[in-house]
Amino acid sequence: MQMTMKYFTYKGVNFSTVSYSEECLSFAENEFKVLDDDVYIVTYPKSGTNWMIEILSLLRTKGDPTWCNTVPIWLRSPWYETLEGQSQIKDVIVPRVLTSHLPFHIFAKSFFTSKAKIIYILRNPKDILVSLFHFSKILCLYKDPENFQELFEDFLQGNVLYNSWFDHVKGWMQMKDNNKFFFITYEELHEDLRSSVVRICEFLGKDLDESQIDLVVKHASFNAMKENKMSNYSVIPQDFMDQTKGSFMRKGITGDWKNYFTVAQNTYFDKVYQEKMKDLNIKFFWEQS
Ligand code: A3P
Repeated sequence: MQMTMKYFTYKGVNFSTVSYSEECLSFAENEFKVLDDDVYIVTYPKSGTNWMIEILSLLRTKGDPTWCNTVPIWLRSPWYETLEGQSQIKDVIVPRVLTSHLPFHIFAKSFFTSKAKIIYILRNPKDILVSLFHFSKILCLYKDPENFQELFEDFLQGNVLYNSWFDHVKGWMQMKDNNKFFFITYEELHEDLRSSVVRICEFLGKDLDESQIDLVVKHASFNAMKENKMSNYSVIPQDFMDQTKGSFMRKGITGDWKNYFTVAQNTYFDKVYQEKMKDLNIKFFWEQS
């Protein structure tokens, strides 16, 4: 049976009552103590969050998959702003890798006076929309849209959990020149995981040898994660994520939007994208073709 799901807003952002409360969000924003050696994986949902958790888990163990194969991914790097995450954090090993979907303006205030680092992952929003469409059917936090067009409109209007992708990206990109902040796209990870892992190591100051990097790449592949019960969410209760209706590790490809968007939807999406992103002056990887 699906849990009852409702949305509420915190400082203008939509959250689900299943995993959030006003109090836990206020705690995350105002009282949560960021440690200097923390690393935060920050994303808009469906951008490759769990992929990055797996990569950073494997970097910690220098490519040894034992930890990834024995501890659920959400316990290795809890979402620090959620009710569940806030109770799990006390057991996280240090230095901590924590995860967040929070927009820039409500992220932990103590981060900005710390030496902690952020890895922000972006993905082509067209593919996020498709991924979200499927995910909405299996995760109890989301309202399940009637059809693709309904989610298409809600997504472009920011009428979804965590609000607008455009605002999330524009908010976080204010940090782009800060040396505590590193951003990378899902598409870059997909095109060349090895060199992406090397760049992540450089940012984090991690020193792995060639064969250890090879192991990270091997165990962070889509197929390895899909097979790993601790990373594919098959051990989470079915009333939270119902994978009889679809897989969390769904396709793991770029450009799947072409199988879903009509020509008219694509034209309209491009128009909104140009308008919303025109002041950002960054060309993302998926725009370069
Ligand atoms: P699809 O639904 O397009 O397949 P998040 O972790 O932010 O929720 O993102 C989930 C998306 O990342 C899903 O996309 C999932 O398949 C994809 N993903 C997860 N691990 C991956 C991996 N190792 N390689 C490629 N894609 C991966």
